[in-house]
Amino acid sequence: MEITAKAIDAFVVNVLEEVGRSLVIDTTKDKLVDTKRDRNDLVTNFDKSTEKFIVSMIKEAYPESTIVSEEGFGDDVKNMDGLVFFVDPIDGTMNFVKRGDDFASMIGVYLDGKPFIGGIIDVMQNKVFHGGPNFGIYCDDKKILNPENKSLRDGLIDISARMVLSDFLNTKEVVKNSSGLRVYGSAGIIFEHLLLGKEVMYMSYLAPWDLAAGRVLCEGAGLEVSSVDDDPVNMLKSQVVIAGTQKVVSEVLKTVKNCD
Ligand code: IPD
Ligand code: CA
Ligand code: CA
Repeated sequence: MEITAKAIDAFVVNVLEEVGRSLVIDTTKDKLVDTKRDRNDLVTNFDKSTEKFIVSMIKEAYPESTIVSEEGFGDDVKNMDGLVFFVDPIDGTMNFVKRGDDFASMIGVYLDGKPFIGGIIDVMQNKVFHGGPNFGIYCDDKKILNPENKSLRDGLIDISARMVLSDFLNTKEVVKNSSGLRVYGSAGIIFEHLLLGKEVMYMSYLAPWDLAAGRVLCEGAGLEVSSVDDDPVNMLKSQVVIAGTQKVVSEVLKTVKNCD
């Protein structure tokens, strides 16, 4: 298949719509729930079957590409050369199991290390956020306007609960300086909120598949995505990431770098 932003965007949307339809229908059936690193790190039969499906679609359409994916059906990717797909089959598995909403499926695509196309489906709302830099960011067929460049004091923020509870990197100070804290439990759903201007910042320790699609979409919508040290974001490792409006990211970076 063609390696143009338009062709890959259409491919990603098509795959995510198919995933969305099947998750909505299938999840009325029993879920087999297992744990990974700890009792709150869940994986289900649907995470695995969805990843297998997405990986097989990518391999068929783009056999030359490499795939970084959460549940182990992708490749052992060592560099960002060529076309690299990042797959998070179900993002927010805890929400998927306990609540039945606020979960997503995400595909991020990078070309020679640069953000190219991202796609996030909010499964229960049946909305696909997709696009990339120089292409535009869309919710289904509708182009999204870049969110307003708000300050921290004027917006809601989302930081992982674990970080705030331990005051990791001065995060309690960041919360105090904002309009308030929200904790949604799915990176994909929070990226959706950033794109729609409902929240102004997200900070969490993210794996490559948690971050890839959201980073493409945020940067394409004039938002900023940064690591908390002076290194650029590295798409092949897990790291603490701050995504949000330009004003908020620069303000929060000062606060988190100022911790003991
Ligand atoms: C998790 C969610 C959660 C974030 C975790 C992720 P998963 O993804 O995005 O919001 O705080 O770091 O691992 O495991 O449900 O795909
Ligand atoms: Ca996942
Ligand atoms: Ca995830």
